Amino acid sequence: MPNNIKPLNVVIIGQGAIGLLYYHSLRKIELLSDERKPLSTVSTSLLATDQYEDKSRAYKFTDIKNQQTQGKVQFTQPKHLQNADIVLCCVKSYHVSAAIESVVDELNPKAVIILAHNGMGTLDQLNKRVIKQHVFAAMLTTHGSLKTDSYTIRHTGEGLTQLGLILTKTQDKRANAFSGQSALQRLDFFIELLNKVLPKVVWEEDIRTAQWHKLAINCVINPLSAMLNIKNGKIADTVHLAKVNALVLEIVAVAQKESVHLNAKKLLDKVIAVAKATAENSSSMRCDVLAKRKTEIDYINGYICNLAEKHHLKAPENKNLVEAIKSLN
Ligand code: PAF
Repeated sequence: MPNNIKPLNVVIIGQGAIGLLYYHSLRKIELLSDERKPLSTVSTSLLATDQYEDKSRAYKFTDIKNQQTQGKVQFTQPKHLQNADIVLCCVKSYHVSAAIESVVDELNPKAVIILAHNGMGTLDQLNKRVIKQHVFAAMLTTHGSLKTDSYTIRHTGEGLTQLGLILTKTQDKRANAFSGQSALQRLDFFIELLNKVLPKVVWEEDIRTAQWHKLAINCVINPLSAMLNIKNGKIADTVHLAKVNALVLEIVAVAQKESVHLNAKKLLDKVIAVAKATAENSSSMRCDVLAKRKTEIDYINGYICNLAEKHHLKAPENKNLVEAIKSLN
């Protein structure tokens, strides 16, 4: 890359397991390139809800090989928002609209906003002004990251990061129409950088279908593991197969009405494969229920129920799980 290219300014929102994993990875590039001056390719800051409590906070990161690193957190200041090229929003789905709206007045209007959360439906909750102004992308990740304490995470499993534009007609046009570096160029550069430190990162033309696959995985594993208080692997036991299959069929029918064509058999195999691949993990919803935190059920099975209603379909299996999880809170 030529020396005259300005660094990509990235603001990460959220000090959870995923926010800190991507923050650490991008800071790693920054620190490496600082050593090889004069080239600095990325500048990353973290916007955390508690950043004003302790401005000189350190974070601890344990990598997949059990190597530990500590680093000082560079918290987001107004100048970071004004210069932001990319905002990676890593908060829970029910905090997305508040998080974005808290920064939007100060945010560079050209910043691409990447949503990285479980479930769907957050874009519909955003203020129309925000939607009109920014290009939105979605990020899906299968990396395992465990928060063991405040600002302390462990990278528990390597995975794949998928990124793609969440298209609307206006965004489609604007994605290519920014003066200077276009939104797509910024995203390309972001992918190139991340691939150096947290492979593999890929561009997904059809991110919507990928989002629906992830949604189906979450609709099955998260509420069942939370309700039955079991690890992910147990979902693959034959005793749960009929329920898993019924959930998948409801999701496929709703997706069809939204013009997303999913193959029920392949989706079922995928859900079971993810349950087995993450067998020893506790799903995020099970963790939330055990810790008596709010869950993302409204954006997972609740999202399916809302769409089912809109299309005059019945989704009793998903509905039962929404009610069951709500009764646990
Ligand atoms: O939400 C989660 O826990 C994860 O998305 C998944 C894939 C179910 C694995 O635990």
